[in-house]
Amino acid sequence: MKKTPVAVLISGNGTNLQALIDACELPGYPAKIVRVISSRENAYGLKRAEEAGIETLVIRHKDFSDREAFDTALHAALLASGAEFVCLAGFMRILTPEFVGKWEGRILNIHPSLLPSFKGMHTHEAALAEGVKIHGCTVHFVVPEIDSGPIVIQAAVPVLPDDTAESLAARVLKAEHQIYPYALRRLASGKLTLKDGRMVNTSLTVHEYTLFNPDIRM
Ligand code: GRF
Repeated sequence: MKKTPVAVLISGNGTNLQALIDACELPGYPAKIVRVISSRENAYGLKRAEEAGIETLVIRHKDFSDREAFDTALHAALLASGAEFVCLAGFMRILTPEFVGKWEGRILNIHPSLLPSFKGMHTHEAALAEGVKIHGCTVHFVVPEIDSGPIVIQAAVPVLPDDTAESLAARVLKAEHQIYPYALRRLASGKLTLKDGRMVNTSLTVHEYTLFNPDIRM
């Protein structure tokens, strides 16, 4: 079975990367991670990749004069890796519209909120401050505008009365680890595409389409 080559971009701990690595090791999973690129040399996710035998690369923005130069290097590294798709997994860099345009329909991000609520940083603090009772996470296609592309899948979690930003983040993160491998599975198997800027997710079962608290079978 052909496994579609994928690159994962990280900046930190890499628990979502780990979820993707674990998924890629499952028999029949249609993707393989060919390279992990980090914008920070001390990202723990680099160790996770090395342990899994995945090629790593650090591209630090400090080494480039501007955003365009950084993104040019990133694009070249992705092309060299042979990746057909890209997953942003806690990647803390804003990408230029030019870069995003080159990967249109082939780049996903995971965001720790139920978009379009709570874009940007500190989503769990914002959810607590607003008093929402349901929070969650979203996998979406990347477009130039931050945290705004077509939504692929979301998972909802309850906000409990005693929650802190940390306890809520941990609950959301668990859900992230379920939905990201699921989204990549669909993308890598050609069942998830962007057509005229809209998501097309073919042959979904009713169960998948109405997923609320996912218990996704890999
Ligand atoms: C996750 O919450 C993800 O949604 C956000 O950054 C965090 C990264 O966590 N974009 P990790 O590095 O995958 O553990």
